[in-house]
Amino acid sequence: MDDLRDKYIQAIAGAEDEAALEALRLEAVGKKGEISLKMRELGKMSAEERQIAGPKLNALKDEINAALAAKKAALGDAALDARLREEWLDVTLPGRPMRTGSIHPISQVTEELTAIFADMGFSVAEGPQIDTDWYNFDALNIPGHHPARAEMDTFYMHRDDGDNRPPHVLRTHTSPVQIRHMEKYGAPCRIIAPGRVYRADYDQTHTPMFHQVEGLAIDRDISMANLKWVLEEFFAAFFEVDGIKTRFRASHFPFTEPSAEVDIQCSWEDGQLKIGEGDGWLEVLGSGMVHPKVLQAAGVDPSEWQGFAFGMGIDRIAMLKYGIPDLRAFFDSDLRWLKHYGFSSLGVPTLHGGLSA
Ligand code: PHE
Repeated sequence: MDDLRDKYIQAIAGAEDEAALEALRLEAVGKKGEISLKMRELGKMSAEERQIAGPKLNALKDEINAALAAKKAALGDAALDARLREEWLDVTLPGRPMRTGSIHPISQVTEELTAIFADMGFSVAEGPQIDTDWYNFDALNIPGHHPARAEMDTFYMHRDDGDNRPPHVLRTHTSPVQIRHMEKYGAPCRIIAPGRVYRADYDQTHTPMFHQVEGLAIDRDISMANLKWVLEEFFAAFFEVDGIKTRFRASHFPFTEPSAEVDIQCSWEDGQLKIGEGDGWLEVLGSGMVHPKVLQAAGVDPSEWQGFAFGMGIDRIAMLKYGIPDLRAFFDSDLRWLKHYGFSSLGVPTLHGGLSA
C-alpha cells in the first residue's frame, strides 16, 4: 500500500496539466481505479484483516484526493500566472486615435431650413436628378427656342442614334419638382423641395453640382404678400436675426409672373459681412407668382388656384451664414475646417459605450 501511495503522490506532483491530473484521478480513485478496486477486495478479507486494511485504504484515498485537489489549484494558479505574463498591457502607450465623422455642412443647413419651413406647414417633396427636358423646361414655360435653355448651361444625357426616348438632362434647378408634385397631388399644396442641381459652370462661386431648395404654395388666394412674409420668417429664423429686411426687385422667370429677385439686408464692415443689419443688400433667391401656364402644364386649373414659388441656393445661404468664402470648400472634407465653421460632428461612440458630441 505504501508503494501505491508513493506512486500516486509522485505522479500527482509531476502532472503537467489538468488533463494529466484527471487521468490520474480516474486511474487511482475513479470507479475502476486502483484504490477503488482494492476497496472492493476488502469484502473478501477476514474481519481482522479488514480492520487494519480498511482504515488505511480510506486514509490513502483521502490523501490522494487531497493531493489531487491541491495540485489542481496549483495548476490553475500557474496557468493564470502564465497568462498574466503573456498578456501584459502597456498602459503608457498612447490611445488609438478615434475617427470622428461629421455631418456635411450642406446636409446640416438642409436640415435647418427644412425644420424652419416645416414650422410654417411646408412638407418636403423630392424629384429625380435626371429628368426629361419637358419637366425641366417645357412644363415650366421654357420652350425649346428659349434663351434660358442656353443660359442654364445644361448637361444633356447622351443619346444613341435611334434612341427615341425623350431627351434627359441633369436638372438645372429644383423647379421641375413643382410640376411633378402638382401633377401627382394637385392643389392646394405647400412644399419645399431641397436637392442637387447641375450646371456646366466652375469658379469661386459656382460648382457644376450645387443645391437648391424650391418652395411652392398653391391655394385659392395666395399672394406675393404671403411670399414676403414666409421668406422674412425664414431668414429671421435661419440667420437668427429678428426683423431682417428683404428687398424684392422686379425680375423675369418664364415660370413666374410677376417675378422678383429677393435680396436680404446686410452690412460690410472692415471686410466683415453681417447679415440682417446695415443698408447693403445680398441677392439670395428668385421667386414669383406661379405662371398660369405652369399650373396648366401640371394639371392645376389656374382659374381656381394661384400661388407663389421660389428657388434658393442652399450652398449660397450656407456660405453666408457660416462666412465660407469659397464654394469649393464644400468639396474639401477636412474635419478641422468643419470644426472651424462650427459644424457639429456626429455623435461618436466613446470607450464608455456612450455618445460624445
Ligand atoms: N428656378 C429658378 C433658378 O434656378 C429659381 C426660381 C424658382 C425662380 C422658382 C422663381 C420661382 O434660377
